[in-house]
Amino acid sequence: MILGMVGWRGMVGSVLMGRMLEENDFACVDKTIFFSTSAAGSKAPEVRGADPVLADAMSVDALAACDVIISCQGGDYTKAMHPKLRESGWKGYWIDAASALRMQDDAVIVLDPVNRAVIDKSLKEGVLDYIGGNCTVSLMLMAMDGLIKADLVEWVSSMTYQAASGAGAQNMRELLAQMGYLNAAVSDELSDPRSAILDIDRKVTDALHAPDFPKAAFGQPLAGSLIAWIDKDLGNGQSREEWKGGAEANKILGLPAMGNPGSLIVEGLCVRVGAMRCHSQALTIKLKKDVSCEEIEDLLDNANEWAYVVPNRKEESMQELSPAKISGTPRIPIGRIRKLAMGPEYISAFTVGDQLLWGAAEPLRRMLRIVCEFKG
Ligand code: HSE
Repeated sequence: MILGMVGWRGMVGSVLMGRMLEENDFACVDKTIFFSTSAAGSKAPEVRGADPVLADAMSVDALAACDVIISCQGGDYTKAMHPKLRESGWKGYWIDAASALRMQDDAVIVLDPVNRAVIDKSLKEGVLDYIGGNCTVSLMLMAMDGLIKADLVEWVSSMTYQAASGAGAQNMRELLAQMGYLNAAVSDELSDPRSAILDIDRKVTDALHAPDFPKAAFGQPLAGSLIAWIDKDLGNGQSREEWKGGAEANKILGLPAMGNPGSLIVEGLCVRVGAMRCHSQALTIKLKKDVSCEEIEDLLDNANEWAYVVPNRKEESMQELSPAKISGTPRIPIGRIRKLAMGPEYISAFTVGDQLLWGAAEPLRRMLRIVCEFKG
């Protein structure tokens, strides 16, 4: 099999490359071709079994030489090239990080620890497009896997605390620039333990409103603040990020579309906070029946290799349910689990996950493995 890699230099692409090298994924194909939209003919990364020269990512013929293509190049690229490739008669597997094809009927959203059965069935049926899910949705389903597999969830409301990385590399830089700007505005006062905190606060507030406060990427201060909207305004009071929750979760699980009988109701509000690359979510879950917290924790803890339960105590919660702790790891802690005053079927939970790993790169590289296995 020949693998084509497109968009491997960007943030998600780089995380994916790192993981594929760590897991020796390139060994499962006969050859890899690295593509570029701007530097075809230049030197390709040194990966065993890879063509030494970059191929042209805008050439349908060059792409069509591959049996599998993984793209992290972004939605515009997918929209430009994927239809042309398919029109040319290409029957290879397209594995994509972008959302462009996610909700198409003939595409599957991949999150194999949760929906391996859906993936296997689709491969057998000849489905060729396999798309990574929205990071928040994937991380939520990984965390809730045990309750979903046990068919215990009637609905879930997810209040998110999403990291800067979800908005892109520039946004991560801008968050740090904002932090630096604020710190610089009060560095003298901070070094003097006798300075008045309300003076510091006033200066920080002035700095947040200053005309040269760096906010080109976010449009608003994120450091020392938050942003209560993520992605497009759908015009019905919902953000596109919030809409994805219900739409994608049901598609991933192979359930009827949200709102139809048999679907999982997923609702919530998506909020950007000043974390670097871990998305957190506060969940309110309505169970289909009263189940003890012990049983719930057991199901969540044993559902997959990555999700694990953090006991609902102060010390453990502070330590483990922390973007700073989980950043760069594939672990998905879920904690703060307790019955709520609304009734015995209502529980709270809080979960954290790296949005570049399980939220982006991991499902893609694992899909390559699954295709390799399937093709023998
Ligand atoms: N849309 C997500 C966010 C990231 O803005 O955090 C990608 O799934």
